[in-house]
Amino acid sequence: AKKVLLFGDIGIDDAIAIIYAFLNDDIELVGIVADYGNVSRETAVNNVYYLYDLFNIENGPPIIGGAEVPMTGEYPRYAPEVHGEHGLGPITPENYVGDSENFFEIIKLIEKYQDDLIIVNIGRLTSLATMFILYRTLMEKVDGFYIMGGAFWVPGNVTAVSEANFYADPVAVQIVLRYAHNATIFPLNVTDYAIVTPEMVDYIAYKGKTKIVKPLLDYYYDFYKETNPGIKGSPLHDVITLMGALHDGMFTYRSLPVHIVEATEEVQRGQSIADFRSVDMEEDEPEKIHRIAFEFDYPMFFNEFMSIMTG
Ligand code: BDR
Ligand code: CA
Repeated sequence: AKKVLLFGDIGIDDAIAIIYAFLNDDIELVGIVADYGNVSRETAVNNVYYLYDLFNIENGPPIIGGAEVPMTGEYPRYAPEVHGEHGLGPITPENYVGDSENFFEIIKLIEKYQDDLIIVNIGRLTSLATMFILYRTLMEKVDGFYIMGGAFWVPGNVTAVSEANFYADPVAVQIVLRYAHNATIFPLNVTDYAIVTPEMVDYIAYKGKTKIVKPLLDYYYDFYKETNPGIKGSPLHDVITLMGALHDGMFTYRSLPVHIVEATEEVQRGQSIADFRSVDMEEDEPEKIHRIAFEFDYPMFFNEFMSIMTG
């Protein structure tokens, strides 16, 4: 099983990604870093405790409190309209008492697993950037980084051009992309199409091992229906990214120089630009080259998701 350290801002699709990991023997979660983003850091941490409780996970991988605010100096903005007030749609979890100022635990995990470890980032990039600011040499040991974020010449989901994870803290994205060797980006170009339909959700509710998927995804779909009339289901951005860390063959990639717009000018902020022009450019700034997933095999996604969730 792949050893995964997951960084997320535990809203609905993050929660489904965690559940997918719990149920999947190919993944060994070694820790979950819960960040501000869809919800506050505190709520994100609490949501992970809730999921552990729901799945009866005792002595599970450490739950680590990540960043509370972005590097831009702004207050964080949450997304209750998409993920619900507590990040879990209609669900109000009880309050679990847990330490959320234990960021140093990440160091121990990387030291322990070294190049056996991959990092999957499905939320804002602030915590991951912090790791690069403080521990560049240590971070070189990590085998690879799988990042949900960006939108390359396709519409954004928070602004006309920007995707939520990149938009929330473009400074952090800049840092991560500068220093992460071996990063793969899963932008809206693919994640918008990782659609789970109400029929799939009903089948999981009927056949699956867990009852929580339906209330979460019904809520999430209501949001998407309102904003994208005609959409057939809701996109599981974070799940397809985690799948990408396991199933390379499900995707087609291109390695291209990537530029992130940090502009405070609202209309451009957080935009991700890939340079599709020529290979010559790559030699100028090799550190800008990243692997970007542009397409995936939907039937493979469907089979993988349904078999894990109902297996
Ligand atoms: C990303 O933003 C969050 O709202 C989702 O959880 C996902 O990680 C999609 O843009
Ligand atoms: Ca997320």
